[in-house]
Amino acid sequence: MTIGIIGSGNIGSAFARTLARAGIGATIANSRGPDSLKDLVLELGPSIKAGTREEAASADTVLVSVNWRKLPSALADLPAWGGRIVIDANNPIEAPLFKPVDLNGRASSEVFVDLVPGARVVKAFNHLQAHVLAGDPRAEGGQRVLFYSGDDPAAKAEVSGLIERVGFFGIDLGPLAVGARLVQFPGGALPVHNLVRFG
Ligand SMILES: NC(=O)c1ccc[n+]([C@@H]2O[C@H](COP(=O)([O-])OP(=O)(O)OC[C@H]3O[C@@H](n4cnc5c(N)ncnc54)[C@H](OP(=O)(O)O)[C@@H]3O)[C@@H](O)[C@H]2O)c1
Repeated sequence: MTIGIIGSGNIGSAFARTLARAGIGATIANSRGPDSLKDLVLELGPSIKAGTREEAASADTVLVSVNWRKLPSALADLPAWGGRIVIDANNPIEAPLFKPVDLNGRASSEVFVDLVPGARVVKAFNHLQAHVLAGDPRAEGGQRVLFYSGDDPAAKAEVSGLIERVGFFGIDLGPLAVGARLVQFPGGALPVHNLVRFG
């Protein structure tokens, strides 16, 4: 499974760091092009490569972590998704004002799904602050918890496997209509809670 990352800021680079720690390869992209990512990929090590937005978007699984209002342009004019997995790590709120976006009652993932037609969307990697996501998933003698949700069982199984490989404990929150709302920030009950599972 190849992995692409669109958005190399706080969350994109935190996700890349968790992959790098586990020796998993990925192509990471931003709006300014691969040259602007030289220092980041040098720091993360050889498994993470800088690429164009199109290169990152061509992977089997693509994590998207972009400022809410910039999602439409970040996801425009890309190759057809054709059933590939897209991980929605986004929240409908933006620094520095942290003013919630009016979604007309829809879950943010429902809005996101419309931006990636034909993709199998899994909501994940959005409920923790970036510095926690980037840190060691072994915590307090247990494993840090990540939630995931989605409507395609096979896509969720892939993301669950990835969560496991990078050392977190994944919890399936069900379909997007249920799970994405629980982890959405603001509004959901789960964001920001840094939970640890003891086996
Ligand atoms: N920060 C957190 O702790 C946190 C936690 C959970 C969820 N989230 C969510 O994760 C998402 C990203 O947040 P963040 O804090 O990582 O934001 P960020 O640090 O501002 O990074 C945003 C990234 O999006 C890229 N981008 C913007 N427009 C693009 C385009 N047209 N094509 C490709 N890349 C584009 C930016 O690239 P350039 O810099 O090159 O423009 C940048 O790398 C947001 O939806 C946020 O709500 C954040």
